[in-house]
Amino acid sequence: MSTYTTTWKSPSNIALVKYWGKKTNEVQIPSNASISFTLRNCATITTLEFEEMDGLAIKVRLEGDEEPSFEPKIEQFLHRIANIFPFVLHGKYLIDTSNSFPHSSGIASSASGMSALALCICDIAVEKGLLTQDKFKETASELARLGSGSASRSIYGPMGVWGDHPDFIGSSDSFAIPYSDVNAVFKDYCDTILLVHKGQKTVSSSIGHGLIDDNPYSPARFAQAQENMTKLKSILKSGNIDGFINLVESEALTLHSLMMSSNPYFILMKPNTLKIIEAIWAKREEDGARAKWCFTLDAGANVHFLYPQADKAAAQAFIEEELAQYCENRAYIHDEVGMGAERV
Ligand code: PMV
Repeated sequence: MSTYTTTWKSPSNIALVKYWGKKTNEVQIPSNASISFTLRNCATITTLEFEEMDGLAIKVRLEGDEEPSFEPKIEQFLHRIANIFPFVLHGKYLIDTSNSFPHSSGIASSASGMSALALCICDIAVEKGLLTQDKFKETASELARLGSGSASRSIYGPMGVWGDHPDFIGSSDSFAIPYSDVNAVFKDYCDTILLVHKGQKTVSSSIGHGLIDDNPYSPARFAQAQENMTKLKSILKSGNIDGFINLVESEALTLHSLMMSSNPYFILMKPNTLKIIEAIWAKREEDGARAKWCFTLDAGANVHFLYPQADKAAAQAFIEEELAQYCENRAYIHDEVGMGAERV
C-alpha cells in the first residue's frame, strides 16, 4: 500500500459577476456564469498525506490543531468526487491546513481550502497514472467545484470564469477556465478586504443558494447575470473603469437583494457595511474623476474595496483615514489580483 504526500497553496477569489443559485437536481451546477478576480495574499496552504487502505479515515489539522468539525464536509466532498476518482474512498487522510488570513476574519476559506485539497488529490491521481498534466488544472477545478462552487475559479489567475456562457469560449458548468483577455489596469487591481464583522455568518452560502429557487426574481436575475458577463467582458478588455464600477457595485447589491427577497429572508450586511459604502460613494462624489474606487461584497458583511494599482497610496490613505473606523478592531487586509494556485 502506497503513501503520497503533497502540498498546494491556493488563493481565495472575489466574484465580480456573482454565482448565487444552483440548478436543481444537479450537483453544484450554477444557474448562471460568474467571473472573479483571483487574490494573491488570502490563501490556504494544505499538505495532504494519503495512505491507501480499505475504508476511509480523515484527520484534519487547522493551524496545527486538530479540527474535527471540518471532517464531515471533507467526507461529503470525497463521496462527490468518487465518481471521477474512486480511489479517494479508500485511504487514510491527514490534512494539514492553514490560512494566511485569520480564521475568525469572516473571510470564507471554502474557495481557497477546497481548491487546495482538490489540487493535492489531483497530484495523487497523476502519480497513480489516472490523470495527465494536460487535464490537470481542469480536473482540479472540477473537483474543487464539487467541494464549493466558487472554489472552481481559484485555480487560475488573473481571473476565473465558471459556468457555460456563449461569449467565453471553452466555458463550462463543470469547471472554471482562466481568463486574462483584460486591459493591463485590471491585471494587478487592488482589493482591500475591510473586516466589518469577523464572526460566523448567520446564514451559510449553501442555504442561501437553496433559497433562490423559490425567489420570484430568480429568472430575471439569472438572465441579468448572463448579460452582465457579456458587458463585463468588453469593459475588462477596454479598461473602462466607470463601466466596471457601475456593473460591479450593481452585482454586489443585487446579490444582497436576492437574500432580502428570499423566504425566509435574511440580511448579511451590517450597519458598518452601509457606512463604508456611503463613504466610498461620498468620496467618488467629492473627487469626481480622480477617485475611481468602488466596492463589491461577498456573502457576508465584509466589504471588498477595489482600486487600481496606480491609486494605491491614495486609496490606502483613505482606508486608514475614513474606512478603518467601520472595521472590527480597525482590521483590514490588503490584497491584489494574483496568478492562481501553486505547488509548494
Ligand atoms: O461557493 P459558495 O457556495 O460558497 O458560493 C459563493 C457565493 C458568492 O461568494 C456570494 C458569489 C461567488 O460567485 O463567489
